[in-house]
Amino acid sequence: MQKDVIKIGFLGLGTVGGGALQILQQNYREICRKIGAKLEVKRIAVRDVKKTRAPEVDPTLLTDKWEHVVLDPEIDIVVEVMGGVDLARQAILQALENDKFVVTANKDLMAQYGQQLLSIAKKQQKNIFYEASVGGGIPLIRPLKHCLAANRIKKIMGIINGTTNYILTQMAKEGKEYGTALAEAQARGFAEADPSNDVDGWDAAYKLNILAGLAFSGMIAMDDIYVEGVSKVKLRDIRYAQELGYAVKLLAIGAETETGLILRVHPTLIPLNHPLAAVENEFNAIFVEGDAVGEVMFYGRGAGSLPTGSAICADIMEAASAIKYEIKNNVIEANFVPKKVVPMEKQVSRFYLRLKAKNEPGVFAKLATAFGEERVSLDMIIQKRSDEQTAEIVLVTNDVTEGSFNQAMAKIREMPSIQSINSVLRVVE
Ligand code: NAP
Ligand code: HSE
Repeated sequence: MQKDVIKIGFLGLGTVGGGALQILQQNYREICRKIGAKLEVKRIAVRDVKKTRAPEVDPTLLTDKWEHVVLDPEIDIVVEVMGGVDLARQAILQALENDKFVVTANKDLMAQYGQQLLSIAKKQQKNIFYEASVGGGIPLIRPLKHCLAANRIKKIMGIINGTTNYILTQMAKEGKEYGTALAEAQARGFAEADPSNDVDGWDAAYKLNILAGLAFSGMIAMDDIYVEGVSKVKLRDIRYAQELGYAVKLLAIGAETETGLILRVHPTLIPLNHPLAAVENEFNAIFVEGDAVGEVMFYGRGAGSLPTGSAICADIMEAASAIKYEIKNNVIEANFVPKKVVPMEKQVSRFYLRLKAKNEPGVFAKLATAFGEERVSLDMIIQKRSDEQTAEIVLVTNDVTEGSFNQAMAKIREMPSIQSINSVLRVVE
C-alpha cells in the first residue's frame, strides 16, 4: 500500500539543515502536492539541544544522539547535514542498513566514500541523493546523471567554491583584506566549519572529484587531483591581473584527454571578458562540454542556507516519490572505472609570474634566456620600479608544460639579480 505520510529525520540543523527546514515549512503545501504525500519531520539530531534555532522547532523533536534518527523505525528519509566524514559515514551506513533513503550535502564524504556508499545503497535497493554537495542551489548532479547522460563529457571547468569566490570578489572590487573577506564569508554561512577546507582548495577538490567521477565515469582518488588554494593570492596580483586584462578566480578543471584525465584546482587568471570573470561573490558557474550537446553553463548561488536548502528539499522530494511509488533505485549512476591521470609535470598551462629583481641592466635579458633555454616563450612583460635598487617584474608566458616552466624557474631562482619570487599563478584563456 502506498504511503501517505513520509517521515524525515535530520542529522544537523545548522546553515543547510535550517535552510532546508525553512523551505519545507514555507512551501509545505506545494511540496506535498507535488509528491502526492505528506512529509513529517520526526526527529532532528544536533550537538546542542538547548541552542536557540531559526527556524523555530518543536524542542521535543531535538536529540543530541544521531542514533535516535537512524535507528527510528518510523523514519523513511535521513537527511545528513552535520558535515565531517567519519561520523557522517557511520550514520549513513546505519541509515541504509535500517532501510532508509539518504539525502546529504556532504562533499567531503561523497568525494572520499561516495562510490562505496552508493553501491551499498544499491544493494539495499535504496539510494543516496547528493545534489546539495556540489554548487549549493545549482542543479548539477542530476543534469550530469540524467539530462547529459548520453554525452561523452570532454571537459568541466568552473568556480565551485562560494567562499573563495566571495573573498576574491571582495578583494578585487572593494579592495578588502583577505582576512576581512574570509570573516564575512564565514558570517554569511558560506564557509565550511573549518574554512581552511575552502581557502586551501580542498572543498573545490572534493566537488571536482564528485563531478569528474560522474562526468568521466572515473574512480577518482583525492591524490589524483592537483590542489592549490587562494591564500597566496595577494591584492597586488589581483591588481596586476586587472592591468593585464584578467580576473583571478579559483577554478576547478577536469578534462578527459587521449593521455588521461586532467584534474586540478588552483587560482587562475582568466580574461576579463570570459563569462567566469563576471561570476561574483558566493555565485558559482560551471561549464560542461559534451560531445553531443556542446557547451552548457550552470550558474547560481553555490553556497548559503536557502540555496543549499533548495537542493536538499528537491532531493527529499525525489526520495519521497521513490518511497511513495516504490521505485527501486532508478538512478542512472556512472559505472565507475579506474582512469589514468596525466601527471602535473606534463600538463600545459600559461603562467603569470611576479618577482623582484635588482634594478640593473640586463635583468630582462637574463630572464628571457632562462625561459628560452626551456623553450618557454613570453607573452607579456611589465616592469615597475619599487625603489631605487629594486624592480618588480610581472610576466605572462605562452603555453608551456609545467615541467619546463619549473625547470626555468629553478634557474631563475639561482640568479644573483633575482631577489624574490613573489607569485606564480596559472592563466587560462
Ligand atoms: P553547520 O552550520 O556547522 O551545521 C552543522 C549542524 O550539525 C549543526 O546543527 C550541529 O549541531 C550539527 N552537528 C554537528 N555535529 C553533530 C553531531 N556529532 N551530532 C549531531 N549533530 C551534529 O554546517 P553547514 O554549513 O550547515 O554544513 C553542513 C553540511 O553541508 C556540511 O557537510 C557542508 O560541507 C555542507 N554544505 C554546506 C553549505 C553551506 O553553504 N554552508 C553548502 C553546501 C554543502 P548544533 O547546531 O547543535 O551545533
Ligand atoms: N563552503 C562551501 C563553499 C559551501 O563556500 O562553496 C558550499 O558547498
